[in-house]
Formats: sequence, structure tokens, C-alpha cells
Amino acid sequence: MEPIPLTLISLLLISLTTSQCLDTRRESGISDGLDTFLVTEYGAIGDGKHYDTAAIQAAIDVCHQSGGGRVLLPSGGDYLTATVFLKSGVTLVVQEGARLLGGTKEEDYPNESDRWYVVLAENATGAGITGGGEINGQGGEFVVLENERKNVMVSWNATGKCSGDECRPRLVGFLDSKDVKVWDITLNQPAYWCLHLVRCQKSWIHNISIFGDFNSPNNDGIDITDSNNTRISKCHIDTGDDAICPKSSTGPVVKLTVTDCWIRTKSSAIKLGSASYFDFRQFLFDNITIVEAHRGIGVQIRDGGNARDLVFSNIKISTRYYDPLWWGRAEPIYITSCPRFSTSKSGSISNLRFENISAVSENGVFLSGTNHGLLHNITLKNVNLTYKRWTEYPGGLFDYRPDCQGLVKHNTAGLMIEHVSGLDLQNVKMSWSKSSLINGWGTPLYFRPNTVDKISFHEWQSEKSLDI
Ligand SMILES: *[C@@H]1O[C@H](CO)[C@@H](O)[C@H](O)[C@H]1NC(C)=O
Ligand SMILES: *[C@@H]1O[C@H](CO)[C@@H](O)[C@H](O)[C@H]1NC(C)=O
Ligand SMILES: *[C@@H]1O[C@H](CO)[C@@H](O)[C@H](O)[C@H]1NC(C)=O
Ligand SMILES: *[C@@H]1O[C@H](CO)[C@@H](O)[C@H](O)[C@H]1NC(C)=O
Ligand SMILES: *[C@@H]1O[C@H](CO)[C@@H](O)[C@H](O)[C@H]1NC(C)=O
Ligand SMILES: *[C@@H]1O[C@H](CO)[C@@H](O)[C@H](O)[C@H]1NC(C)=O
Ligand SMILES: *[C@@H]1O[C@H](CO)[C@@H](O)[C@H](O)[C@H]1NC(C)=O
Ligand SMILES: *[C@@H]1O[C@H](CO)[C@@H](O)[C@H](O)[C@H]1NC(C)=O
Ligand SMILES: *[C@@H]1O[C@H](CO)[C@@H](O)[C@H](O)[C@H]1NC(C)=O
Repeated sequence: MEPIPLTLISLLLISLTTSQCLDTRRESGISDGLDTFLVTEYGAIGDGKHYDTAAIQAAIDVCHQSGGGRVLLPSGGDYLTATVFLKSGVTLVVQEGARLLGGTKEEDYPNESDRWYVVLAENATGAGITGGGEINGQGGEFVVLENERKNVMVSWNATGKCSGDECRPRLVGFLDSKDVKVWDITLNQPAYWCLHLVRCQKSWIHNISIFGDFNSPNNDGIDITDSNNTRISKCHIDTGDDAICPKSSTGPVVKLTVTDCWIRTKSSAIKLGSASYFDFRQFLFDNITIVEAHRGIGVQIRDGGNARDLVFSNIKISTRYYDPLWWGRAEPIYITSCPRFSTSKSGSISNLRFENISAVSENGVFLSGTNHGLLHNITLKNVNLTYKRWTEYPGGLFDYRPDCQGLVKHNTAGLMIEHVSGLDLQNVKMSWSKSSLINGWGTPLYFRPNTVDKISFHEWQSEKSLDI
């Protein structure tokens, strides 16, 4: 038989997919010219028991090959899946009332542990996720032993594909991708980290909700690794581990803007680090509410990168103690630079501005450099710090973790400063509640003069709080 000319095949394919698109677009009620591919037309069942991986992947692949569009998971279904690979130009639309459920078996994920995601985009341009529905990692299935202090989790480390106790799949990953968009979606119960951007350029994350188990370790919210030009707005994050966490492993993180977010976490709400091998610069965090966190804003340089030009404004913080198994000691603001190990390089932290911040916390602000990793030029302007005790956990610990000096017994202070050059306090108010004073904690400022220079105070107040 004569081989059919390729052009004819592509014409056939195009006309097939186009007609299918027209039908499904009508069905989904969307009419903006983008092609829509329903996973149910590719065989997805959506009963939450049978794997729909092949159907979802086929819809993505056809959508991608036809120049992009939407892949739609219709409302009412629970679509169980092994890793699905999102492609350039494809937006995954998980409709309201639909759930994409991540598989809980190791064979559901690729061989390489750094590709263990329920939804994974690699080298994609213009891939996205939206729809009003939910992507669910079934994190509860990864809990071996529930424990209010800290859950014991499954670790897929037996085959040697991964080592240690953090071998679990992440929920959503964009690696080496451009023009990433994630909006109007709930990311629920990740087994490990939730939304991960790695070496991405230009990402837009808007109106997403993240829910992780409050007792599960490593349930991070959004991790931004080695990525530039990231915008995050209107996010709602309620989880056990770090909520918004830029990390630098193979390159810097440049230009990150986070606005209008609400965060609750048993770890740091905002954390730069702990992987900090390259620079963090040009970050803006504005209009953020942080509640019941173990640490509010953390900048943790450990590996030789530098952090500079960071602005934190209009932020409300409430921090409390939890079990010391978790890093953090209720510091509303925690800025530290120390070499992780004696062999690690040191990094500096400079040009940080905190403006319009109000905090109620069980511990004080902690600003600590080391001989070789200095903190420079930090401004606190219009900052209200209220000190209060409401949990039974003992205070009296400086927390230098990860690594460095670890946990060190020390009297608590409202503001602890070491190895800082250039600290400007303008209109900073400290209020001490009765509960904090009864606890024997009333040192407003603690610093050793030989490690600190260029501190200035303008309108600094310390007062007994009237109410409590
Ligand atoms: C995954 O690893 C297994 C066992 O090591 C091997 O047999 C299989 O070919 C690998 N699969 C891929 C896709 O590389
Ligand atoms: C993306 O493509 C580049 C160049 O081909 C390759 O080096 C890199 O490993 C790819 N990244 C991923 C996550 O596949
Ligand atoms: C594997 O994970 C378990 C559970 O977290 C942990 O106790 C164990 O040390 C890990 N083993 C290896 C070889 O990493
Ligand atoms: C935000 O996303 C949710 C779905 O996760 C949606 O129901 C809601 O309408 C969105 N909000 C706005 C203002 O678009
Ligand atoms: C981010 O920008 C820096 C330069 O500012 C560059 O070195 C780095 O490669 C960029 N990263 C990515 C993922 O494009
Ligand atoms: C701050 O963010 C919240 C959402 O967390 C939003 O409702 C509010 O309008 C924002 N405020 C300003 C001044 O933009
Ligand atoms: C700090 O408290 C004063 C009242 O004592 C209030 O006027 C001011 O707005 C507060 N500042 C912030 C940033 O919350
Ligand atoms: C801080 O609050 C003051 C008074 O509300 C306002 O004028 C100023 O613009 C705010 N600063 C920032 C960076 O939002
Ligand atoms: C700190 O600020 C001073 C005065 O603005 C400036 O000269 C210096 O270069 C800054 N230092 C760093 C490390 O940015």
C-alpha cells in the first residue's frame, strides 16, 4: 500500500480534534476560542478507584500536539492518577466539584525521585492549572503513625531511588518552565511539598488554596527554587510546614512578589532557605496575614548565598510555640546568617525593610549574623510588637537551626541583635502583656555592643500593655 502522506494524516487529525473540541467546548460552557479536551472522552471514568492516568495523559498529549488549549476534568468525578505530564500550552482545568487524586503507590511515580509529582510540567511554556476544583495528594495515606507532636510518615527509601526520611511525592511541579499559571484551584493534602517551581521563569500564582495536615512534616505550601519573576497573590495556605519558601540550590531566586495572602502554619509562614547556595534578591511581601505560626518571617542563610533588597510591608503576624521538634521558636521576625557546617561558606543579608508590621507573639524578634556572615542595613518602620504568653511550652531558647549552633539556652528578649551593622528602628513599639511579664521575660533589647554597630532608634517605645 502507498504510504499515506503525512500532511493528509495531520489534516485528518486536525479535523478530528477540531470537531471534538467544538462539541466539548459547548458542553463545558466555555467560549473563548481555546480548544477544550474532555478527559472523559479519552476514557476517564472518574470513580476514584480505577486509574485514569492514560486518559488524562492522552487528552494532554492531543491538546499539546494540536497547539494547546484546555484539558478538562468535569465536575462530579474523582480522577485517580499516577504522575501526569503537563505539556506546553496546556491548561489543566479541574472543574469545581472534580478532584484529581494522586496515587499512593511508588510505582505510580517516575523512577527518578526528583520527578515524583502528581502533576508534573517539564520544560513547558505556557502550561497552567485552574478550574475551581481540587488536586489532592491523599497525604493521609502516607501517615504511618498519627502523632500530635509530629506524624511519622512513609518514606519510599527502600529501593535506593531516594534516601532518608523525606521520600514522598510532591503534589504539583513545574520544572524548567516558562509562563507558568496556576489560579482558582485548591491543592489539598500533599504527601510532601505542595506546589514546587524549579528553575522557572515568569510564574503567576493567583487565588489558590493550599491545605496540608498540620502535624505532617515537610508539607510545604509553595516552594520557589532557583526561579525568577514569580508573582503570587491572594493565596490561602493552611499547612504543617513552611508556607512560602524560596530556596536556592543551583541558581539565584530573583524578583518574587507575594501579596494579599493568608497563612497558618506550624513552621515558618515566609522562609528564605534553608537551601541558600545562591542569592535571593528583589523580593516584596505585602499585605499578608500570618496566624498561629511557629515563625513569621524567616530569612535563613546557611550555605553561602546572599539575601538582599527585600521588603516586607503591611503584615500582621501571630506566632506561638509548638513542640521544639519543629524549627522555630515563635519569633515574628527571624533573620539569621551562619555557615551551616564549619565547612560551609557564609553569606550576607542586606537592605531589608520592614514597614507597617504588627505582631503578637510568644517570643521576640531575632536578628543574628556571625563574624563572617553579617547582617547589614535593616530598617523597621511602624512596627508594633506585642509580647504575650498563651501556650504552656517553655521559652528560654535561641533557635539557630537548621544546624549552626542549634538550640541554645538563653533568656528571651523582645529584640535580640548580634553581628549586625546598620539597624534603623523608626516608630517601633513594644508592648508587654501581664502574661509575658509573669513568665519572667521582660528584656526589651539584648545585644552585645562589640558585635553591633550603627543602630539608631527613632520613636522607640516599650510599655506595659493595658489590656492583658
Ligand atoms: C525504572 O527502573 C526499573 C528498575 O530499576 C527499570 O527496570 C525500568 O526500565 C525503569 N524505567 C524507566 C522508564 O526508566
Ligand atoms: C529541560 O531541557 C533541558 C535542555 O534540553 C535539559 O537539560 C533539562 O534536563 C530539561 N529539564 C527537565 C526537567 O526535563
Ligand atoms: C527510611 O525511612 C524511614 C522512615 O522515615 C527512616 O526511619 C529510615 O532511616 C530511612 N532509611 C534510609 C536508608 O534512608
Ligand atoms: C478563587 O478560586 C475559587 C476556586 O478555588 C473560586 O471559587 C473563586 O470564585 C475564585 N475567586 C475569585 C475572586 O475569582
Ligand atoms: C534568573 O536570573 C539570573 C540573573 O539575574 C540568572 O542568572 C538565572 O539564570 C535566572 N534563572 C532562570 C531560571 O532563568
Ligand atoms: C489584603 O489581602 C486581603 C486578602 O488576604 C484582601 O481581602 C484585602 O483586600 C487586601 N488589602 C489590600 C489593601 O489590598
Ligand atoms: C501600632 O499601634 C498604633 C496604636 O498604638 C496604631 O495607631 C498603629 O496603626 C499601629 N501600627 C501598625 C503597623 O499596626
Ligand atoms: C504604611 O502605612 C502608612 C500609614 O497607613 C502609609 O502611609 C504607608 O504608605 C504604608 N507603607 C507601605 C509601604 O505600605
Ligand atoms: C548600607 O547602607 C549604606 C548607607 O545607605 C550604604 O552606603 C551601604 O553600601 C549599605 N551596605 C550594604 C551592604 O548594602
